[in-house]
Amino acid sequence: MKLINIICLFVGFFTNIVQASPAIQIIPQPSKIVLGTSEITLKKNVKIIANQEVMSEATYLAEFLEKGFRKKIKIVAKGKGIHLEIVETLKNELGEEGYMLSVGKDQIVIKAATTAGLFYGIQSFKQLLPVDFGFVKINQKIKISELEIMDKPRFPWRAFMLDESRHFKGATVVKNLLDQMALLKMNTFHWHLTDDQGWRIEIKKYPKLTEIGSKRKNTQLSRKSEERTGVPHEGFYTQEEIKEIISYAKKRHISVVPEIEMPGHAMAAIAAYPWLGSLGTTTEVPEVFGKMDDSFNIANPKVVRFLKDILDEVLVLFPSQVVHIGGDEVNFKPWEDSESVQSFMESKGLKSPVDLQIYFTNQISNYIDNAGKRMMGWNEIMGGDVHGERKEEAPKSEQKLAKSAIVHFWKGNLDLINKAVQEGYDVVNSNHWDTYLDYTYKRTPLSKSYAFDPIPEGLDKKYQSHILGTGTQMWSEWIPTVPSMEKQIFPRLAAYAEVGWTDIENKNFERFEQSLKKIKERWTLLGIHFYELEN
Ligand code: ACM
Repeated sequence: MKLINIICLFVGFFTNIVQASPAIQIIPQPSKIVLGTSEITLKKNVKIIANQEVMSEATYLAEFLEKGFRKKIKIVAKGKGIHLEIVETLKNELGEEGYMLSVGKDQIVIKAATTAGLFYGIQSFKQLLPVDFGFVKINQKIKISELEIMDKPRFPWRAFMLDESRHFKGATVVKNLLDQMALLKMNTFHWHLTDDQGWRIEIKKYPKLTEIGSKRKNTQLSRKSEERTGVPHEGFYTQEEIKEIISYAKKRHISVVPEIEMPGHAMAAIAAYPWLGSLGTTTEVPEVFGKMDDSFNIANPKVVRFLKDILDEVLVLFPSQVVHIGGDEVNFKPWEDSESVQSFMESKGLKSPVDLQIYFTNQISNYIDNAGKRMMGWNEIMGGDVHGERKEEAPKSEQKLAKSAIVHFWKGNLDLINKAVQEGYDVVNSNHWDTYLDYTYKRTPLSKSYAFDPIPEGLDKKYQSHILGTGTQMWSEWIPTVPSMEKQIFPRLAAYAEVGWTDIENKNFERFEQSLKKIKERWTLLGIHFYELEN
């Protein structure tokens, strides 16, 4: 049956058409909800009807139901129950991630063109159940409203970034965050694994990166403070541990995008292998935060080879189509002060450190392209004056960033986004004022997070498809503990999920706040801390 016929059928059958029904509280708000007039009963002997192709999603749903009903849930090929169906022809209407969920008298049906779509249908279904399902008593049977949902995301890139360099949190914390991302239909875990204050990923060819680079002796206690914690901080993931997290994420249809910072934010790596640096004096992993002195000496071909060797391992380890190489806030001073860097630049006709960074970044981009993937970097990789600190007389940059690169906008005039998309680049918009989770709620209240539109005002329609979506970033300098981290993330994560998923015309902050009450109850049951007075 054609989708339009199905819709007509639903509209005919159900009398109550609800766009933003307070009775149905799902975050992110679905594209369309048609609410029926009665309720159905979900019993503990319910079965899941699924074939082999959707077994991962069926198992995920079965495990969820088993927790609530405290009973093994059968997955069978035929019969009555909760149907999970792939219908490839729905791709036109639902895209890669959309789904249809129908709760009817005799059965519950989730349909999608892909397994990702089915998974998101399951997430909406979960949110229809009582919030304490799976936490407290054994539920004999539960009532759910009859309804039809049709839903698909506004953007394909819906990311959450965790910085584990500044404070390492470990696999359990990461998995818990992946669970919350999945519930909120976020599909990209951007994992900031290297930075000045710690190298957190095992690289087999260069063991000192973790032997030395994952440890620091002390940690600055607060901004601009001379006070220190007085205790060492360390931690890293082995490649085996990373594989396990990738697999956990994959089951939740989350792609794990690693970020390996180059050529700046590199002090931990340089401390491990001092010849990587431009100053020649870096020997310690820093204990303080802020802009650091040293940068990789990318004029040295051995250093570039070293970074490509790291990428060789990263490209194999992570199935993600995208590798993030940072590229932000590079300190150019050590390059300007280095005779060997200056003579390299002269030999290549590179007039400024900006050009040197782009020249290097393009080598890395080509390297990643050749592995069949794409490079992403913070928007400094385009060479614009992101920080507004370039002198008038400074030479204009002449190098052009490789066209396959994804530009991760975080800072600078919004015109930089317009320029990037007009030049044909794909952009993820993580404007820091709007999306940074390390900012206080005073600076970025929930209402502001919610109001963010990744498409800058006035951007010509023809360029809008170049805006892939948005990311929200948990920088971790000042969140040493899990509760302190969670209070920065929650509830704003839910707002960003809706920014990434829900069409503008379906966004409504009052309705979102109502729906949030239910998710907050869930977080409370899970022991997740969240910020309360946030608007
Ligand atoms: C950044 O916040 N330095 C990307």
